[in-house]
Amino acid sequence: MKTIYLIGIGPGGPEYLTMQAIETLRLIDCFFMLEKDGRGKDELIAARRAILARYLPGANPRVATRTSPERRMDAEGYREGVRQWHARKRELIAEMIEQELAEGQRGAFLIWGDPSLYDQTVSLISELVAMAPEQLELVVIPGITAVQALTAAHRIPVNRIGESISITTGRAIAQQDPASIHNSLVMLDNHAEFQHLAGQDLDLYWGAYLGCADQALAAGPLDDISEAVLARREQLRAQKGWIMDTYLLRRRREGAD
Ligand SMILES: C[S@@+](CC[C@H](N)C(=O)[O-])C[C@H]1O[C@@H](n2cnc3c(N)ncnc32)[C@H](O)[C@@H]1O
Repeated sequence: MKTIYLIGIGPGGPEYLTMQAIETLRLIDCFFMLEKDGRGKDELIAARRAILARYLPGANPRVATRTSPERRMDAEGYREGVRQWHARKRELIAEMIEQELAEGQRGAFLIWGDPSLYDQTVSLISELVAMAPEQLELVVIPGITAVQALTAAHRIPVNRIGESISITTGRAIAQQDPASIHNSLVMLDNHAEFQHLAGQDLDLYWGAYLGCADQALAAGPLDDISEAVLARREQLRAQKGWIMDTYLLRRRREGAD
């Protein structure tokens, strides 16, 4: 039996790892890292390597890297593009497990934030386990999400009493009826979709590079701060070459807690 651990490493700095995550690092025979081109990806890989250096000092852990397949925008549309991308990634992971782990060994992926939130690795490896349950098992170690880093940084509860919350993407919020937005956390938004939601009586709680040295925050009525956040976002993106941000859209209401 080979075991794959998906270890949630939190949203940035090494201090966001849980004790369970740190103890699990010490069990691992080989760390798998999928690299993509680009400055952002370089920094995300460097952050993972810094975590290994900090928690496994002097251990010189084995790291296997591969180039991660990119999602292609093909003629079949978004869903088919994603399906093909996942299939290529699953194949690559299967190859890495085959080539890098001997029988009885443990491999790990260091997953940004928590493995259960907008990360397909759990599903891809579960599919591999389903194909060979007597040869492969999966263990998931939870991590602190960007959502938790955002609400902690703004010192706000994620929900208000009796209200539901939704976690969604930039792509989905752009298609949603603005009147139906009450308490929506938006991730994976390359286009700052909040800029199109003026006049909706929404507050915006925004955070970029949460939990990292460059953390940037802004909060206030969306109509008042949208332009400034947009400008800041562009400036940070230009400066660093990449941006990762998360935000909460919350409808204002009388006597809210
Ligand atoms: C592929 S998802 C991964 C989410 C991750 N699994 C989690 O639990 O936070 C990437 C998105 O998470 C958000 N994100 C992750 N880390 C972040 C950070 N340090 N600051 C702001 N947003 C972050 C951004 O919305 C980004 O587009």
